[in-house]
Amino acid sequence: MEFQSIVILDFGSQYTQLIARRIRQLKVYSVIVSFRVSYDEIKNYKPAGIILSGGPASVYAPGAPKLDSTILSCGLPILGICYGMQLIAYCEKGNIVRSGSREYGRTVIDICAKGDLLGNIPAGGTVWMSHGDRIDKIPENYIITARSDNALCAFENPQRKIYGLQFHPEVHHTQYGTEILSNFIFRICGISPGWSMPSFIDTKIREIREQTGGKAVVLGLSGGVDSTVLAVLLHKAIGDQLTAVFVDNGLLRLNEGSLIKERFARHFQMNIKYIDAGKNFLKRLKKITDPEKKRLIIGDEFVKVFFSAVPEFDFLAQGTLYPDVIESVSVKGPSDKIKTHHNRVKRILDLKSRGMIIEPFQELFKDEVREIGRLLDVPEEIIQRHPFPGPGLAVRILGEITPERVNILQRADHIVIDEIKNAGLYNKIWQAFGVLLPVKAVGVMGDERTYADVLAIRAVESVDGMTADWVKLPYELLETFSRRIIGEIKEINRVVYDICSKPPGTIEWE
Ligand code: XMP
Repeated sequence: MEFQSIVILDFGSQYTQLIARRIRQLKVYSVIVSFRVSYDEIKNYKPAGIILSGGPASVYAPGAPKLDSTILSCGLPILGICYGMQLIAYCEKGNIVRSGSREYGRTVIDICAKGDLLGNIPAGGTVWMSHGDRIDKIPENYIITARSDNALCAFENPQRKIYGLQFHPEVHHTQYGTEILSNFIFRICGISPGWSMPSFIDTKIREIREQTGGKAVVLGLSGGVDSTVLAVLLHKAIGDQLTAVFVDNGLLRLNEGSLIKERFARHFQMNIKYIDAGKNFLKRLKKITDPEKKRLIIGDEFVKVFFSAVPEFDFLAQGTLYPDVIESVSVKGPSDKIKTHHNRVKRILDLKSRGMIIEPFQELFKDEVREIGRLLDVPEEIIQRHPFPGPGLAVRILGEITPERVNILQRADHIVIDEIKNAGLYNKIWQAFGVLLPVKAVGVMGDERTYADVLAIRAVESVDGMTADWVKLPYELLETFSRRIIGEIKEINRVVYDICSKPPGTIEWE
């Protein structure tokens, strides 16, 4: 890695990714890694400082995530936020107690000592708290630098450059949050701003060339934003060493296969293999209704089809993003797995352990990949595409998947996208799609009774796919969906709109 970074150890806070973003916005590179990662691995990221994120646990709780003790003595500046601060106190023999009441939301802080971290921060600022425990005895050689009426808010050990904040500087509602993070990364860690997307691209190109050294690289191309931007980046780095493979699994959107072929021929001159394997996938999915089984079968079949199309290769590249790996690095661990993402099936994990996987975007979010795409002149019609899940329509056909049901959903989904575009909303929302439900409803058409399928429509707003809210679409548009879908697709006689956010729902239904 070319540039120095700030490494964020993730202890499971919902705000961890916000810390990374804030730092990148300050033009410094930052990476999120699991708290389980050893200090030796952390060194690969050339850290100039380490941030310990917040987290939902209580430090004394059984099984609570702990800190590798070499980290506190590694000599690098360390900033612990919320749970991260309590861990510092715990490791350094301070004391933490359960608060009588949990403290969430705005608090005013008083700066009580002009330390390095808060020295230039005006007193009386509003900060955002979200904690149940509090520190009641600070470790030796630490000084308290901020307090609120209820709690100790900041401490530091300036000699060892270790700092703790009980509040969250990364959230928008904390006044001077950016200034506090700037103090840590610039004044204390001494890193200079200079990281930017163009420098990220240059570094990744150099790294890819060094890593692959003239050997063969294959890439699974889906035609979506991530794999397309990655294909263009790889092609720029290694030219014809790259072979992109597009597998039509029979579960794609209407006419997707021919659209991708036409687009890629028009815009890019790279080696691409197109494989039509729809029948294989549908055969294996026959009578399968369990969502996780569907995902595993599709992941497995994909790997089979893919590897028989490219039996010889040295590296496999994937457009994996941070949200795709978060479950495998998160403190929750595999027992809390929500969904198996297609790029984390067993065969891929085996290749990963042998150093054969290239994932240049694995710390990034979709909007950052879109920014890279624009810098690489990827056409806007590809950059703006809505995300589409690896297992495709299989996770949007609830219950059994048959060729007929795939076709029904393709036609209905096409109308949803068409009308979202007509309303000028396609580029303004994260994702919109149809979901075919495993129930039938009674209706009346003309004078005849109908007994037909039900389609749910989902449209969500999101910044990164980690959390999402349903879009308050105009009633007129909802009405158009219903009129067109029921009018044009005889297999559907009822249309409903999904009004669930994420959490508690997920974006896809399976
Ligand atoms: P969920 O349903 O987990 O989806 O809220 C979050 C975002 O990820 C997409 N998604 C996937 N993307 N492989 C992918 O590449 C997958 O297996 C997968 N499952 C969900 C989903 O469309 C949404 O944008």
